[in-house]
Amino acid sequence: MYAIEVGGVARVARSLFAANGFSDRISLVRGWSTEVQLPERADVLVSELIGDEPLAEDVLGVTKDALRRLLKPNARLVPSGIQLFGLPVTVPDDVLNQCTFTPATVQKWQSWYGLEFAPLTKVAPFRQVMDFMNPHAVLGWKTLSAPVLLADVDFKTWQRSRLRTTVPCTATAPGQLNGMIVYFELKAGSNTFFTTHPASTDESNHWCSPVYSFVHPISLETGSQFELTYWYRFDDGLSGCAVRRRD
Ligand SMILES: C[S@@+](CC[C@H](N)C(=O)[O-])C[C@H]1O[C@@H](n2cnc3c(N)ncnc32)[C@H](O)[C@@H]1O
Repeated sequence: MYAIEVGGVARVARSLFAANGFSDRISLVRGWSTEVQLPERADVLVSELIGDEPLAEDVLGVTKDALRRLLKPNARLVPSGIQLFGLPVTVPDDVLNQCTFTPATVQKWQSWYGLEFAPLTKVAPFRQVMDFMNPHAVLGWKTLSAPVLLADVDFKTWQRSRLRTTVPCTATAPGQLNGMIVYFELKAGSNTFFTTHPASTDESNHWCSPVYSFVHPISLETGSQFELTYWYRFDDGLSGCAVRRRD
């Protein structure tokens, strides 16, 4: 078994293997996986390269390189893929106000710094806000429909450099749809073995989920039809989403 690690934690890795009785089974390989060689090709790749922005730690590029140089042809990947889901919600006003240039916020900054920030309030209504929040902290937010599948990424076969999807949805509750939480599920074959769905996490979860606000929120009744559009570009990490009424 080979453990490839580029970071400083590699300095204590051998002690950790020894303390747990694995020294005879794990060989440490220090460096970027994309730059090192292994003495032989491996049967299984176990990795955890999932970020708060789930695909931003280059899990796709690193896996692609490993498939080409470090793994046997039918090697197993754990995780084998990731599914991204969008959860349409009402983002509470106090959370939105923390992230947007409201008159009250810029007034506070003005009093702190003695500088005028009022022009920022003019861009606020046209600017999408994206923040990262612990999914456990958003558990009490009102959800307006079942989660929608935004992307189903198989690490072996995925080729695209951007993701753009529009998904039809039906409201399951009335309310103001002003945002979307993106959470993920990690797959091992067809099984899900980890999820950051807000109801499945607790305070010990260290992942934060992207939370987007919509530039044009919509008001929903139960049964209202709407569609969500989500995009993510792998090369520069730009992402965004929008909502549109369908009825
Ligand atoms: C997200 S962390 C995993 C943390 C670990 N699962 C945990 O819970 O503590 C990713 C780790 O992989 C290392 N890493 C990321 N990309 C790598 C690569 N291409 N080659 C080698 N190490 C890499 C980082 O230095 C980091 O230690």
